[in-house]
Amino acid sequence: MSKRFYITTAIDYLNGQPHLGHAYEKIVADVIARARRSLGQEVFFLTGLDEHGQKVQQAAQAEKKNPQEYCDALAADWQAFAKKLELTNDDFVRTTQPRHKEYVQATLAKLHDAGHFYKASYTGFYSAKEETFLTEKDRLPDGKFDASYGEVVELKEDNYYFKLGAHQQWLIDYIEANPDFIAPSSRRNEVLGFLKNNTLEDLCISRPLARLNWGIPLPFDPDFVTYVWFDALVNYASIAAAHPELGLWPADIHVLGKDIVKFHAVYWPIMLKAMGLALPKQILVHGWWQKDGAKISKSTGNIVDPIAVINEWGLDAFRFYVLRELDIGPDGNWTDAGFRSRYQAELANGLGNLVNRSLSMLKRYRNGVVPARSNELAADAAKAADETRALFKQSQLQSALQSIWGLVNRANQYVDQTKPFSLAKDPAQAQRLDEVLYNLAEACRVLAVLLWPFLPGTATKIYAQLGLTGSPDKLEAATWGGLQAGQVIGEPAPLFPRKDV
Ligand code: ME8
Ligand code: MG
Repeated sequence: MSKRFYITTAIDYLNGQPHLGHAYEKIVADVIARARRSLGQEVFFLTGLDEHGQKVQQAAQAEKKNPQEYCDALAADWQAFAKKLELTNDDFVRTTQPRHKEYVQATLAKLHDAGHFYKASYTGFYSAKEETFLTEKDRLPDGKFDASYGEVVELKEDNYYFKLGAHQQWLIDYIEANPDFIAPSSRRNEVLGFLKNNTLEDLCISRPLARLNWGIPLPFDPDFVTYVWFDALVNYASIAAAHPELGLWPADIHVLGKDIVKFHAVYWPIMLKAMGLALPKQILVHGWWQKDGAKISKSTGNIVDPIAVINEWGLDAFRFYVLRELDIGPDGNWTDAGFRSRYQAELANGLGNLVNRSLSMLKRYRNGVVPARSNELAADAAKAADETRALFKQSQLQSALQSIWGLVNRANQYVDQTKPFSLAKDPAQAQRLDEVLYNLAEACRVLAVLLWPFLPGTATKIYAQLGLTGSPDKLEAATWGGLQAGQVIGEPAPLFPRKDV
């Protein structure tokens, strides 16, 4: 049996509520996970939360809570959010869980014993107010630091460092020998360019307890905690290790945003090499969303609230828009007008209208009983299914939707060309009407199967309206002719109600 397909997302910082960017990434990973299951693979899909660090510590302090209480309360919201998106994750990691912390500590101890770390002192300009070190680059033209940093003092601090430099050439060679390791290729080129033009500095992996206490203590020096990345990145391996019976490692795909490529494509592979673990097969990097051409930001109020959109328009409309609008890679721009226009044109007038009129005519003209098989749209359906299958294996989600809409549009065109409402008026055309109605109903069935990873609720509704039991969750069912003559369909109902705006 082939290895379980293991897909992960970035784990989100727990210092606020989820926004569009978080939702998008999790939906991308969910659709890939569902697509692989639909292809017949066994899948393990992991998402979760990054709960340690300065920001969480500060946010908890501001609410006068201890950090764990603060995390527990907020984590419940994020887990409810994952449910709201109908993510099919198999586990949900929180970096404050003992299973993760113990694995991180065991890893740190092992790497320390093997000589991968050293302690060194660093002297630099430190802003106590922002609790951060500043560099020459942070100086204003007049040589001073911005007033927002408060008083800046020269400070000497000891820390532990992970030796990276020795692995630089190895990593370049690895990325060059494995063209699919970083996708899309624009990101791969960026990482290669960075590695070839810079000397890697060793990675600081600790913070003194005096400065940060909300972290995992170093097992070999209790005066320090690990600093974000050695804690967060390790989640992918700690949770794999928590399910030893599944043999999850190495991961097949890490999905993450463009801002954290370096950590995943440079630091993480070197950490894994030191840990003696295989590298993930692919790092899949998505772009960032803006709204109305400007950065999404809570402080300026330029936000998209995914929950509000879902409550108003439905989950599948939200899932559809983000995946159809933005390919995995480039940056995207959310506009309410763009959202409404896709809803109206592609969902309500496209897919929704096709299914509703096809099934309503079958109900009206044939009492809902499926006529004998006919193959007029079989080649169009096979084309969409073949393309979708190939595109799923490449995680080409936007292209898959375009291909599927090729079939939606073809079937709507077929209604306009064959005019079943006219055929119904002429008893001599009864057999022709049977053919048309079969092709339309079967095209709807095939669409449900192809759409299931993207629009699981809609796909399930189409199956139910066709009177089918079971779920359209296996791509092999997209083969033409699945709908049997004599099958009695269910009740047609609009999938995407038109909204007057
Ligand atoms: O970086 N559009 O957490 P995070 C698209 N804890 N994606 C966006 C986005 C936007 N506007 N804003 C953020 C962290 N993201 C770390 C990760 S992984 C071991 C640790 C994406 O909450 C971002 O690119 O800041 C990242 O992949 C994810 O949301 C979490 O970001
Ligand atoms: Mg971030």
